[in-house]
Amino acid sequence: MHRHLNDKYVQKTNKGGYRSRSAYKLIEIDNKFKLLQKGQKVIDLGASPGGWSQVASRKGANVVAIDIKPVNTIAGVEYIQCDINELEILRNKFKDQKFDVILSDMAPESCGLKSLDHIRIMLLCEAALNLAKHFLNYGGKFVVKIFQGESDKDFYNELKKIFKTVKYFKPKSSRSESTEMYLVGLDFVGGKDLK
Ligand SMILES: C[S@@+](CC[C@H](N)C(=O)[O-])C[C@H]1O[C@@H](n2cnc3c(N)ncnc32)[C@H](O)[C@@H]1O
Repeated sequence: MHRHLNDKYVQKTNKGGYRSRSAYKLIEIDNKFKLLQKGQKVIDLGASPGGWSQVASRKGANVVAIDIKPVNTIAGVEYIQCDINELEILRNKFKDQKFDVILSDMAPESCGLKSLDHIRIMLLCEAALNLAKHFLNYGGKFVVKIFQGESDKDFYNELKKIFKTVKYFKPKSSRSESTEMYLVGLDFVGGKDLK
């Protein structure tokens, strides 16, 4: 509790009117990679409580927020409550639409066992990538949260096949003791999944 109250990003979150401290991670990622622009179509996976959707929406993007948990209304943001693995819902919803940016800050509830948390988040990463392959525009961008572990390099190599540039990034606002990192894919060249 003491750490939380003294955390400068928690203080900034309150001042900035963001719903989550995580908002500052996306702000840093965006400052570094110039992802978000006015008029873009963006999917925000694992959106609850809504910090990342707020950041993208304040940049002028048209955001679709997806999460198993509820997201309270954010002006201009469409919200779909579902599990990322419910492909039927997403296929019916998006049909032939394409998006410019797909973001995933999804994370499983931590079980406290690093190796298991790693496996569980990598399954969410694969599910996010499946959607990205199907719904990203050529040239599109993809951001996905990972917990470092034995299979993140394999996932990085998968991204390298379908993005011209792939980078690891650890925002300063991500706690240093956490294995959390982001993989950023730029310039999507094509894929197909979502079955
Ligand atoms: C770290 S939080 C996201 C915080 C959010 N980016 C923000 O700024 O407010 C991770 C989210 O991933 C969601 N999540 C986990 N598994 C999911 C799944 N299978 N499908 C959709 N969302 C999922 C959780 O419900 C949780 O809200």
